[in-house]
Amino acid sequence: MKNKFFAIDKLPQRCVDFWRILNAHIFKSKCYPLYVQYVITFRCNLRCRYCDYPSKQSAELDISEIYRLLDELIYYGMRKISIVGGEPLLIDDLPKIIEYLKKKKIFCNIITNGVLFKERLQDIKNIDLVIFSLDGDEETHDKNTVPGVFQKVIEGIELCRKNKIDVATNTVINSHNYDKLDFILEFSKKNNMTAMFQPVESFPLCPSTKIIDLLLEKEIIKKTYNYLIAKKRQGYKIAYSTYYLKTIASGEQFKQCKFAGRLFATILPDGKIAPCNPMIFKQDNWLSGKECGYINAMKNMPQFQCNGCFTAWPEINEIVSFNLKSLFENIKSFS
Ligand SMILES: C[S@@+](CC[C@H](N)C(=O)[O-])C[C@H]1O[C@@H](n2cnc3c(N)ncnc32)[C@H](O)[C@@H]1O
Ligand code: SF4
Repeated sequence: MKNKFFAIDKLPQRCVDFWRILNAHIFKSKCYPLYVQYVITFRCNLRCRYCDYPSKQSAELDISEIYRLLDELIYYGMRKISIVGGEPLLIDDLPKIIEYLKKKKIFCNIITNGVLFKERLQDIKNIDLVIFSLDGDEETHDKNTVPGVFQKVIEGIELCRKNKIDVATNTVINSHNYDKLDFILEFSKKNNMTAMFQPVESFPLCPSTKIIDLLLEKEIIKKTYNYLIAKKRQGYKIAYSTYYLKTIASGEQFKQCKFAGRLFATILPDGKIAPCNPMIFKQDNWLSGKECGYINAMKNMPQFQCNGCFTAWPEINEIVSFNLKSLFENIKSFS
């Protein structure tokens, strides 16, 4: 596949991005939301065992407020937006949002549990990428959700392939599935998809006792990630750089991301803005972009403290920090 990162028509855009990143390195007051996750709702039609999103309640932006949010983020440099939840397919206005983003040439993906995918497919066909949560084979996946969800995910992936929509999977590694990842690896190889993996995490503002039996010992994380690194070297399409996978395997969590809230950020359902998704569950005093403007809310973001996490954010932080080990492998995934 042609590497879109070096495409001539993208060159002006790359130069602007580089200039913005450089600016953020030099001036602490500079914020550009290059990459955004939008938690569009906390509502969900499932209750996965390890997930605390549906336990949170929040007001949600209406469509005119969402357009205002997108306009401001695009004006200040947004290139990619990932719409998550809760379950994003519960949002009636999702097609309007995707259409708007595509008109503005912004890369847009959703992360979904797949339950409503078939019935909403016609509405969202323009999307750049669909990421399905998939934790293992039928028995493993449905044990964490409810019976039938696995089949919906498989059907959703087939529909994406038929309709030429890019597709990937996200697997939360936990004590029930860490030794059963071959199913995901072989399935993604067969379908030529990228597989993303992330160890289950528990956060201070969540009822973490609920998932104590799912958490992984350091030794198991090390063994599992060394296995994934070996598979990546064999050619399996596993997301994230080998450098990042090795860091997770080493047991040393990344430190607080220097550019969280400055070059990437998370928007909450009510328009508050946090540095990243994990911080939604660690702190509760984020400013409302709806009330004071999104860039203003980024620039005046409350102080936060973090001991790192296992999500995609630390890798994004390494990329914008110009860590070459992370940057080179990820250039392939730039659109
Ligand atoms: C919060 S969900 C929202 C999107 C959608 N409802 C879904 O399940 O794909 C986004 C991703 O976060 C993952 N996730 C939820 N709780 C987690 C936890 N405690 N640790 C790690 N990942 C988690 C989910 O499995 C899912 O892949
Ligand atoms: S489907 Fe997604 S948001 Fe809903 S409970 Fe499961 S992981 Fe959480």
